[in-house]
Amino acid sequence: MAYPQTRMRRLRQRLPLRDLVRETELSASRLVAPLFVTLGREAREPIGSMPGVQRLSIGQAVLEAGELAALGVPAVLLFGLPEGVVQLAARAIKEAHPELLVITDVCLCEYTSHGHCGVLREDGVVDNDASVALIARAAVSQARAGADIVAPSDMMDGRVGALRAALDADGLGDTPILAYSAKFASAFYGPFREAADSTPSFGDRRSYQMDPGNGREALREALLDIDEGADMVMVKPALAYLDVVARVREHTQVPIAAYNVSGEYSMVKAAAAAGYLDERAAVLEALTGIRRAGADVIITYHAKEAARWLQQM
Ligand code: PBG
Repeated sequence: MAYPQTRMRRLRQRLPLRDLVRETELSASRLVAPLFVTLGREAREPIGSMPGVQRLSIGQAVLEAGELAALGVPAVLLFGLPEGVVQLAARAIKEAHPELLVITDVCLCEYTSHGHCGVLREDGVVDNDASVALIARAAVSQARAGADIVAPSDMMDGRVGALRAALDADGLGDTPILAYSAKFASAFYGPFREAADSTPSFGDRRSYQMDPGNGREALREALLDIDEGADMVMVKPALAYLDVVARVREHTQVPIAAYNVSGEYSMVKAAAAAGYLDERAAVLEALTGIRRAGADVIITYHAKEAARWLQQM
């Protein structure tokens, strides 16, 4: 039946009706807040490229984690500078807030002098297999320190299988792996690189991160990671890659996380600061879109504010 029998506007007339038939729910329970943790005196250091986000000392990270938990955000994703701080922060957060899930980013880029996500061969090429061995060791060390989930973000081949084997061999068979399966070589990581001091000192990451044009390959990456033992897979960034989220959703059975990355965050912040858009509405719309595309979990720097807004609804 078509118009005039069919009138799509009938179900849009009033808020309770719209609420009743909404297909996609957004709730704080689906959000993960990334935290940047540093060693040194108790402080919060603003990150210029990411208004509202700070580098946190361990004590401040524990406080922040408590606020997130109180707002109903179930998980944090830890990035550390330098090596070792992630483990210390994971332990401190778990001690203070045992109910909060601690996810750790497993990568070498924050720790290598050249900023690439693996170790370099003499000819300057990132050595896949040597990197995988180190990444597996880092994951074990983070899980031992209390990480509930480890998330390898390096895009080396075979790392999920290596992590699974290393965790199992260490008695950590219950630690899930969230694989950054389809991580694209994206300009939208720009602000993060200031936050984590992880800009490569030469070249770029296109020899290991994915080409933005490739959707089929992203699905292949996800399937390979699942085959190697990934418990959850990730698509990153989120907003320019919603078709990839939808495709992975259609062809896999595991939970999917989408990473609403730093550049996506900072664009909204900049536009809102200039008065070009309504920040609250824009953020909730973008997060709903990521859920609608098929993501179960959204990693986002908007987590705390979004959780607050969702409480007020
Ligand atoms: C490091 C890493 C990056 C991000 C998460 N882990 C940067 C990169 O790969 O260049 C980006 C996160 C963001 O932009 O919010 N492997």
